Amino acid sequence: MPLSPGSPSPLRFLSLLTHCPRSARAGLVFAVGLMVGATGVLAQDANAELIAKGRYIATAGDCAACHTAPHGGQPFAGGYGIVSPLGTIFSTNITPSKTNGIGDYSEEEFARAVREGVAKDGTHLYPAMPYTAYAKTSDDDIKALYAYFMSEVTPVDTTPQKTELPFPFSIRASMAGWNLFFLDSTRFKPDASKSEQWNRGAYLAEGLAHCSSCHTPRNLLMAESSNKALSGGPLGSWYAPNITSDPVSGIGGWSEEELVAYMRTGHVAGKAQAAGPMAEAVENSLQHLTDDDLKAITVYVKSTEPVASAATTPRYGYGKPSDAEFALRGLPGQAAGEDGFHVFSGSCAACHQVNGQGNAFYPSLFNNTATGAPEPDNLVSTILFGLTRTVGDTHTFMPAFGPASSFTDRLSDKEVADVSNYVLTQFGNPDVMLTEADVARIREGGEKPLLAKLAPYAAPAAALMVLLILAAFAAAAFRRQPRQAST
Ligand code: HEC
Ligand code: HEC
Ligand code: HEC
Repeated sequence: MPLSPGSPSPLRFLSLLTHCPRSARAGLVFAVGLMVGATGVLAQDANAELIAKGRYIATAGDCAACHTAPHGGQPFAGGYGIVSPLGTIFSTNITPSKTNGIGDYSEEEFARAVREGVAKDGTHLYPAMPYTAYAKTSDDDIKALYAYFMSEVTPVDTTPQKTELPFPFSIRASMAGWNLFFLDSTRFKPDASKSEQWNRGAYLAEGLAHCSSCHTPRNLLMAESSNKALSGGPLGSWYAPNITSDPVSGIGGWSEEELVAYMRTGHVAGKAQAAGPMAEAVENSLQHLTDDDLKAITVYVKSTEPVASAATTPRYGYGKPSDAEFALRGLPGQAAGEDGFHVFSGSCAACHQVNGQGNAFYPSLFNNTATGAPEPDNLVSTILFGLTRTVGDTHTFMPAFGPASSFTDRLSDKEVADVSNYVLTQFGNPDVMLTEADVARIREGGEKPLLAKLAPYAAPAAALMVLLILAAFAAAAFRRQPRQAST
């Protein structure tokens, strides 16, 4: 069959194949096969690269931490309850399941959910999903993230528990108004006056790694106070400390190596250990980042606007070994703080040593940000909830004394207050003192913000508003009538 010179190239190949000698034909088939194979391999390589990049971004964004249920939940299948002061918000299934996950999301819909907090069906997400930070993420990174979720994450067809916040927070549309005020949906814009390293660090810290979601205090409407960025804020039972560059109130006194080590391992001797939500960030996300990225984040954090509080000594600067334990031993009823000393002696000294100095396995209780901070929340929460952190093959563990367990007896609120006060006076910041009520508050998830405290009044207030509006209409109608009558 003769072919015109202008016919499309595949046909040209076919015509060549049918017209040339057999050996040449075989060679050609081989060459074409190679070409097709090579483009296939190239495409596959590009795709594998994109997916690998997406996997790294999912790690930097710590998607698994919130989207995987505790105690062996399927990866990304949702159901992790985020205890917010307004009620528990459950994460959704973000596996590519067509029925219960995000299998039907297009890349644009996925981008909208991650960066603008709007689900495929148009409903608004609560900012427990950190879209306010992810808004900074570049199109390229979103593309890779999408490729990773769609091609590598195993679809799981289960529906996690639904989020049911009390009225008025149950009205998701109200988040549209909130976004208007508090969502800066612009992508990260590099600062040309700063180094590439600084820009990379800012991109990660402000965006994917969402440090500010925890470390920036929130205003009355639960939005981050941007003028106090990274200056510390309560996080339920925990407290995410000031990590601005201030040398006393922040992390200005930490070396770059120490900050990198903290993010990589969650432990810097003579300074701090990561417990609670920070342990999770280290375990699931930060330990897996490249050295370059951790250094970049450090360079950025160390350059942030310093925010100073009233503190006069850095959190890690308090305390020294104390021999009070020896002095008190055997003299019950003789000294102030005796109750705390008993709890300390029975529950803590075996690991942290009688003089609080610790050893190669257990940290010292002086020069420790948990005992030197102006907020005692992390000290109390570590006692109540313990500490667990797996980095590489190393599992670091302190038992919880809040509930009774196979390791420990339950300590009452009073016992926790007593032992905390003992630790604070002997090893930490002696200006901080706790009451039983403080411990109860931390055990229950921390101080509730005003917005949550007002919630119970919202329903009656809303009903009252409706009545007032009706009354106003009625009054207007009432007033109209005489006028109508008079015309
Ligand atoms: C701090 C916790 C947290 C992190 C980290 C987090 N999410 Fe979420 N995400 C949530 C919660 C909670 C919801 C559900 C919010 C709601 O119901 O309003 C959600 C919802 C979503 C949705 C909407 C899904 C649907 O069912 O329509 C997508 C998509 C999503 N997240 C993707 C991601 C990706 C991708 C990452 C990582 C880059 C991520 N999330 C990290 C908490 C988190
Ligand atoms: C999920 C919440 C959360 C996220 C996200 C988070 N942090 Fe933290 N961070 C905390 C909490 C809580 C602590 C206190 C931990 C403790 O003392 O046991 C902490 C402690 C720290 C400390 C030690 C401060 C001290 O004085 O002990 C540093 C440094 C730090 N975070 C840096 C970062 C950086 C940088 C990022 C982002 C890359 C980040 N954190 C992301 C919650 C968080
Ligand atoms: C079985 C050993 C063990 C016992 C008992 C124990 N701890 Fe710990 N403690 C640890 C370990 C391990 C860590 C974490 C070390 C690390 O993160 O590198 C830790 C960490 C801490 C921290 C630092 C937490 C932070 O967020 O920085 C404080 C404070 C603390 N313990 C206080 C106590 C007190 C008070 C008691 C007694 C009520 C106690 N510990 C009992 C092993 C123990």
